[in-house]
This record gives sequence, structure tokens and C-alpha cells, in this order.
Amino acid sequence: MEQQSTESVAPTATNPNMKNYEEERKTFSWEEIEKNFTWYETGKVNMAYEAIDRHAESSRANKIALHYCDDTREESYTFEQMKLNSNKFGNVLRDLGIVKGDRVFIFMPRTPELYFAFLGAVKVGAIVGPLFEAFMEMAVRDRLQDSGAIAVVTTPALLSRVPVADLPELKHVIVVGQEVEAGEGIVDYYKQMATASEELAIEWVDREDGLILHYTSGSTGKPKGICHVHNAMIQHYYTGKIVLDLQEDDVYWCNADPGWVTGTSYGIFAPWLNGATNVIRGGRFSPKDWYGTIEKYKISIWYSSPTALRMLMGVGDELVKQFDLSSLRHVLSVGEPLNPEVVRWGLKVYGQRIHDTWWMTETGGHLVCNYPAMAIRPGSMGKPIPGTDAAIVDDNGNVLPPYRMGNLAIKTPWPSMMRKVWNNPAKYEEYFRIPGWYISGDSAYCDEDGYFWFQGRIDDVINTAGERVGPFEVESKLVEHPAVAEAGVIGKPDPIRGEIIKAFIGLRDGYTPSDELKADIAKFVKEGLSAHAAPREIEFRDKLPKTRSGKIMRRVLKAWELGLPTGDLSTIED
Ligand code: PRX
Repeated sequence: MEQQSTESVAPTATNPNMKNYEEERKTFSWEEIEKNFTWYETGKVNMAYEAIDRHAESSRANKIALHYCDDTREESYTFEQMKLNSNKFGNVLRDLGIVKGDRVFIFMPRTPELYFAFLGAVKVGAIVGPLFEAFMEMAVRDRLQDSGAIAVVTTPALLSRVPVADLPELKHVIVVGQEVEAGEGIVDYYKQMATASEELAIEWVDREDGLILHYTSGSTGKPKGICHVHNAMIQHYYTGKIVLDLQEDDVYWCNADPGWVTGTSYGIFAPWLNGATNVIRGGRFSPKDWYGTIEKYKISIWYSSPTALRMLMGVGDELVKQFDLSSLRHVLSVGEPLNPEVVRWGLKVYGQRIHDTWWMTETGGHLVCNYPAMAIRPGSMGKPIPGTDAAIVDDNGNVLPPYRMGNLAIKTPWPSMMRKVWNNPAKYEEYFRIPGWYISGDSAYCDEDGYFWFQGRIDDVINTAGERVGPFEVESKLVEHPAVAEAGVIGKPDPIRGEIIKAFIGLRDGYTPSDELKADIAKFVKEGLSAHAAPREIEFRDKLPKTRSGKIMRRVLKAWELGLPTGDLSTIED
């Protein structure tokens, strides 16, 4: 493997929290980080206490914790107000009988209420399952069923997608809306909040007790419930300092929805554990509104994603000049490979280095990153955070020399590592099949200076606009369509979204290929599963390549698509 680039962008600022990466690695200890938490003294742990109440009880009580805006609302809340609102919601849950370990889901768009509910649920010891508002009924059912959720917080618009009849364990549906129709198990959020007490006895939990469940896709089977514990706060706090570079006067904005791990680890935990002012913008992507948000709140740290940055780059440099973005001092990206071209563009138009960060739902927090104090090599994900080790290993666990491509692996353990896959210990074990290592499923190589370079997924998981989509889930939905006999789904390279979902479909007898049928099939997935899982491209084929056991060979579909040799076809059916 040749080194991709020798281009390097020197640091322009120093981070007081980590002045020198190599020095920090030498002297680092997680135990020193733990000393920053109240529980190091008291032994009492709760993530929401450390993120909110601790500041509300300090000189930060009247500091703005949350600036919220969307097209219709604009509100700000201090740490004290966040504490009281989340206390109230904690009481609402407690009155319903919710206790430590119960799974409480949050299925709603970003609004302040989402954050009150999230923190309130954590305060009573519940394990929170945040869901994207884009999920349709089947996606919601799979996740609530698998986790045995007892309560869900949602909105009137999304209520019809919560299939209560199929969810015997679901007892409470808490609806956040002005007009809530009464019904069995329906709880009116505003009505309950109006009378709920602002005093709450926080549920002190163990560091290893469950905190959050993020469902994420693999290449086979239904989405997996990745479970994280309160202990993860150690890593969220620390990476908030050395990667996000949070300092006292920063105004921080993370674009991600809490339905995605970035929207919780770095949209809730890291900024608030560090007592930062956090901006949340609801609504959809809009270049003007986004730049307007940076200008309005004087955002200094911005955590975004390659797809969003590529879209902004597509809109062009002129729009940037219409806004005052001089408050920006640190920009980061996550979720997909960050093209060197985007890094160069960021330098030119924002005057900022864009710091790529690599991690996964399963890792809970940052692992391989670029830091303010370190030179950036555009196209590289950076180097492992202090306190962790990454390596490229072969399938037997041998560490490979520089420039050799292999499995991107992380030495176990680290504080925010997932602790289980819900109901699926076998899946959990798969990640740790090589003793001493977590196997990420990504392939990469490391250069001679220790920078890591992403090469691709080893399995069939699709990454479209930063969303992880399992082909199996989409294929399963496709074959429910009356016209579809069989379907194989792949990620097709796309200049903006990284990959788009392409479906190869064999039709049932009596159906003829047409554009209308394609549109109808795409709509079927969009409405049955979710918008981001719907294929953007469909191709009808008389026959799909299958193994003798009947498994569709996505590898061959991908080779067709890319015009590459199809490789070993010895297991193909005919
Ligand atoms: O393939 C890698 C890609 O996204 C996967 C993890 O997806 P998810 O669990 O949804 O979490 C994303 C946010 C933490 C990884 O296995 N990925 C993530 N970050 C990067 C990346 N690929 C290349 N460069 C990155 N910086």
C-alpha cells in the first residue's frame, strides 16, 4: 500500500487541555480523569447528575446550557433550568412506576422536551433508547420489542407509528403535544409536567449499570441493541476536552440527532459533562439556516459530518461570505471518510482545519482522532486517543507493519466500550473474537508516523450520508412488496452521500419493469422502514447471483455495479 499523501496541515492553535499529543500519551491515566467527577469522592454515580446538576449546584448555575432553535422556536435554558425540567420529567416517570433498568424510548424530533425527557429518564436510572423520528412502524416495533421497552416518549404526529398492539410490554406512551387524545396507556406530557415536583431524588446507580441503547445495523439480521453504561462518562468528559477542545467560554454545536450515537455521546454527554453551552438546531439541513445558526449564536466549535460538509461545499463559497463565521475556532467531522478535498476547502473558506474523528456506535466515544495540537494529514482519521491503543491486525490477531491493510482493531478495554448487545451475547462476542482486541469491521492501514487511514468496511454494511444501514433489513422489507420476488442491496459510491442504497430486484411473475414500479417500491421501503433506508436506485434483473444455499451474493452485485471482476464464483448457484 502506498502512502496516499504527504500533505500535512500544521496546528494553528494549541489546546490548553492537551498541548502535546505524544507527551499526553506518556503521562496519561484514566484514574486521573475520574478525579474530575463528584462520584470519585461520594461513590454516587449518575450520568445526568454529572452532566447537569453538578453545574447547577456550582457557579455555572445561570450559565446557558442549551440554546435551542428551529423554524418556529427559539429558547435558551440555564443549567439550573435543565436540572429542574429534567427533575420534573424524572418524577413523571417515577409516578408511572418506572424504575432502574427499565427501557424508556424517546421517539421524537429534536426539541427541548426531548432533552428534558432524556435526562429525566437517566436520572431515575432508566436505560434510554433514542430513535430517529424518520423511523416507520416496522423499525419502531423491532426496537421496542427487542428491548422490551416499558415506556416511549413521542409526539402526536409520530404516535401512529408506535404499534402498541404488537408491544405487550409497553405500558406507557407519553405524548408531547398541545392536544393529546386520551387513551389507554396514553400520558399527556404537558399535563403531567405542569404539576410534577421540581425536586427529585436521583437514582444513584453503579458505574456498570445500563445508560443507553443505540440500535445499529450489521450486515445480517435485525439491528443490534448496543448497550452503554454510565462509566462511559469518563471517556466523554475527556474526549470533550482533548478532541472537541471544549473550554469555558465555548459555544458548541453538534449537528447530529440523538437517534445516532454522535447525537448523544457528543450532542448531550461530552458538552454538558464539560459544562459547555450547547446549541441544538431542530429541523432539516439548510445551508442558509446552518450558517445563520453559527453567526447568531457565535458558535466556536462545530461538529459536523462529511455529507453535510460536501453539501455545503456544493452550495459554494459565495454563501459563506454572506455570514459572519468569525466565531468558529474548531471544526470536526465524523461518520464517514472525510475527503482531503473537503479539508482543503474548509481551510480556504472557513479558515479552519476540519478534524476528522473515527469511532462507532459500539465504541461509545472517540477513538482515532485528529487534535488541535497535532498536524493533520488530509484523508487520515488521525491517531488513537491517549489511554487507548489502535492497530491494524490480520485475521489471526498479528499486528501488521505500516502501510499493510487489515482490520482496524482497538486494544480492549476502554471506558466507553459497549457492555453488551441486547439479547444477543453471540453478536457481542463476535467483536472480541481475537483475544485482547475489539475488531471494528473497518479496514484501514497505519502509516509509519502512526496516522490511520480508512479503507472501507469489511462486511456489507452501507454508510449512506453517515447513516449505517444493514442490507438485510432493506432486503427483508423489499420482499414484502407484492411485486418483489427477491432483492439484493448494496452501497453504491456517491459523490455527496458517500454511498447510496442500490437494490437489485427480481420481479414476481406477472409484473413488468417500469419507472412507476421502481418509485412504488422505493416508497414502500420509505414508508415501511425509514427514509434513509429506501433505495435511491433500483435495477430489475431476471436473476440474482446466489450461493447454492440460496444466499444472495452482494459481493457479485457490487462487482457488477462497479464493473469489476466478480472474483471467485465457485459457490454460485448456476
Ligand atoms: O465504517 C466506519 C464509519 O462509520 C462506522 C460506524 O458507524 P456508526 O456506528 O453509525 O457511528 C458513526 C458515528 C460514530 C464505522 O465503522 N466511520 C465513522 N467515522 C468514520 C468512519 N469512516 C471513515 N472515517 C471516519 N472518521
